[in-house]
Order: sequence, then C-alpha cells, then structure tokens
Amino acid sequence: MRADPAPRSEERLRAVRSELAGGATVAEALARGMPGLLNVRSIVDAGSDIRSAVSGIGPVLQPLLDDAEVTDILVNSIRGVWVDRGKGLERVTELTGAFRDDTEVRDMAVRLAAASGQRLDDQSPLVDGTVGSGIRLHAVLPPLAAEGTMISLRVHRRVNFSVEDLADNGMIPRPVLPVLLALVERRANVMISGATGSGKTTLLAGLLSEVPRAERILIIEERQELRPYHPHVVHLQERKANVQGVGAIPMSELVRAALRMRPDRIVLGECRGAEVRDVLAALNTGHEGGWATIHANSAADVPARLTALGALAGLSESTMAAQAVAALDAVVHVERERGSRRVSQIAVLERTRERELAAVEALRWDGTALHRGPSWSKLARRLGMEDVGL
Ligand SMILES: Nc1ncnc2c1ncn2[C@@H]1O[C@H](COP(=O)(O)OP(=O)(O)OP(=O)(O)O)[C@@H](O)[C@H]1O
Ligand SMILES: [Mg+2]
Repeated sequence: MRADPAPRSEERLRAVRSELAGGATVAEALARGMPGLLNVRSIVDAGSDIRSAVSGIGPVLQPLLDDAEVTDILVNSIRGVWVDRGKGLERVTELTGAFRDDTEVRDMAVRLAAASGQRLDDQSPLVDGTVGSGIRLHAVLPPLAAEGTMISLRVHRRVNFSVEDLADNGMIPRPVLPVLLALVERRANVMISGATGSGKTTLLAGLLSEVPRAERILIIEERQELRPYHPHVVHLQERKANVQGVGAIPMSELVRAALRMRPDRIVLGECRGAEVRDVLAALNTGHEGGWATIHANSAADVPARLTALGALAGLSESTMAAQAVAALDAVVHVERERGSRRVSQIAVLERTRERELAAVEALRWDGTALHRGPSWSKLARRLGMEDVGL
C-alpha cells in the first residue's frame, strides 16, 4: 500500500486555488498544487518563453540578450546568427538551424518592429527603431535583403562607465585623462570621432558625468542613448514621419528648440545630417562646452565627413571650414582595435594654406607613450595647460 496516495483532481484544484489565494503566481500554484503534473523548471521556462515571445525577441535569441557581454546580435535569415562579445563577430554555432525557414525569421522581425511601434511589411520593408529600453533594432525584408530577412540588434547595456572606469579598463590612457577633464572643465567645444561601435557614446557619457552639478545638460539624440550620471540632464528626441509620411521633426529643428531651453551644455548625440549646421552655428554664438560625436575612421577623416554633412545642409566647403574651425576646440578620436577601445588621438581643426579644413594632431597615444603634435601648443593654451608636463 502507498503511504501517500496521489491527491484526487478536486483536491489538487483546491490546492492550486489556495496557493493562488495566498498570492502565488499561476506557475507557482500549479507547481505546488499539482506536483508531478509539470516540473517547476518547465513552467519557469514556459514563462520566460512566453515573456520573450510577447516582447518580440523570441526564445531563440533571448539567451543571447541575457548574456551580459553581447553588444550586437545579427540574424542573417536562416544562414546563421552572429554576435559581438567585444572581440569581433563570432558565429553562434548552437543556433545553426534554429530557424526552419525565412518565414520564421520574418515573423520575428515583424514582431520586433511592432514592439518598437513601427510596421514592417512589403510596403515598408525597412525598419529602424528601439525595442524596450535600449535595444536598437534594424531589420530589412527580402527582396531588399537579398539573402532573406536580416535583423541587426545593438544592445545597450546600461553600464555607465565613469572616466575612472574608462581609465582603468584602458580606454582613456592615464596621461590623456587630465586633458579630457580639462576639455570639460574649460568648457571647450568638442567632437568625439570614431568608427561604428568604437565607444564614442560611452566616452561621452563618462565625460558628461564630470560636468559641474549646477549646470543643465541638454542632449539632442535620434533616440535616447546617453545617460550620464548627472542630476540635471534633459533629452530631446527626433520624431520620424508616421506611416502616412507626415509629422517628422528633424534634428535641426530640435537643435534650434534646444537653444531656447536655457542649456548650459548642448550635446548632439551623433552628427549625421544637416543638423551639423545648426549645432556649429550654436557653438559659434556663445554656447560653450558643447559636445557631439561623429562617425569617422580617423581624426584626419573628420574634415571630409563634416564637409559632406555640411553639403547636406547647403553649406559650401569653405563656409563649413570657417564654421568648424571657429566652433570646435578639439576632436577626440576613439579607436577600436581587436576588441580593445582607446582614445588614440586629440586633434585641432585648422585651415591649410589652401584654405581647406584639416585635423592637425595635438596629442597621439601609441599604446605606450603620448606624443605631442603641431597643434598641442594651441590646445594647451585653450586649456590653460601650457606648463603641464604630459
Ligand atoms: N571601454 C569600454 N569597455 C567596455 N565596453 C565598452 C567600452 N566602450 C564601449 N563599450 C560598449 O560597446 C558598445 C558600443 O559602444 P558605444 O555605443 O559607446 O559606441 P559608439 O561608437 O557610440 O557606437 P555607434 O557607432 O553605434 O554610435 C556598447 O555596448 C558599450 O557599452
Ligand atoms: Mg554612438
């Protein structure tokens, strides 16, 4: 005879009800009230599958999102999933064959797009948005994406690095740290340049955390990324056109609006279009201490990039050169090499004898030592660092 006969189904139901009445979740109540029917782990797993399916990510990718080291997830239709854990792209071999056909990948892309408040279908086969708090989504459907649905996720882990953290992990070389702090303290106008994912935004957030507490920082961004540790930060965010193609508020309009909001510091998350004209105009008319990031593979490429962006705003090459030289005190370049990121150069924008815009080196870090370049004396004067040995 069994000492502990299995409870009959009414008893089990009563047990489940009383667990629920006691405040248990459905999963907990089922697990406790109906032991043996389902094991607890599978209920918890089912719960997390449901949660991820609802948020659009889906159970296949959720483990990658849960991995704190993953910053990028790329799904190339059924051909494979790739991630970046800070050491370059790696294929996720466990996920080979995880999607049966492109329809599954497409469904996931559509769900993710919906979670970001946008639509993705044959009429609008390209989507760029934010999912949840800080997952940047980009998805393209075929036939635009020739190999099938492509999804790119950039995961913004909300790690805020202080400048001390960044100096400890090697991103800010120790001898460069006082120069960066002086740029903040002396209210210089600075552009941070670097390639995609080099750490421009991270460095900027760290530096903005050093802004004096009494100042008001106004950040203009396409989508909210910069979260400096500072008590007085406000954001203006771009609004894209709706499905009917109306209602867009461009970044340049936000920059002009920002000027009327009594900012002590104007920050443009990323210069990527015509708003560069408005930002440079603002920095040239008494708004000091402004910061922006710009995509460029080296500091020497910044003039060409600025000229190209200026052209979008109808600025001639020479007007852009004059505006940029007058507005910006320095360009801080971040480099990403084999997974490690570091500030490799600080330059000053000047005009050559041919009146062209050029980034002239002030300081260069070669990995072990700091070298002064031709524009160091100019920058040192601006920062009151003429007598400082570096
Ligand atoms: N010094 C660092 N140590 C560790 N992780 C870092 C460091 N710098 C940046 N990261 C991480 O790398 C990712 C990319 O950084 P970030 O967004 O700052 O780069 P970015 O140059 O602004 O990129 P984008 O070109 O997309 O604007 C982020 O997830 C960030 O947390
Ligand atoms: Mg960035």
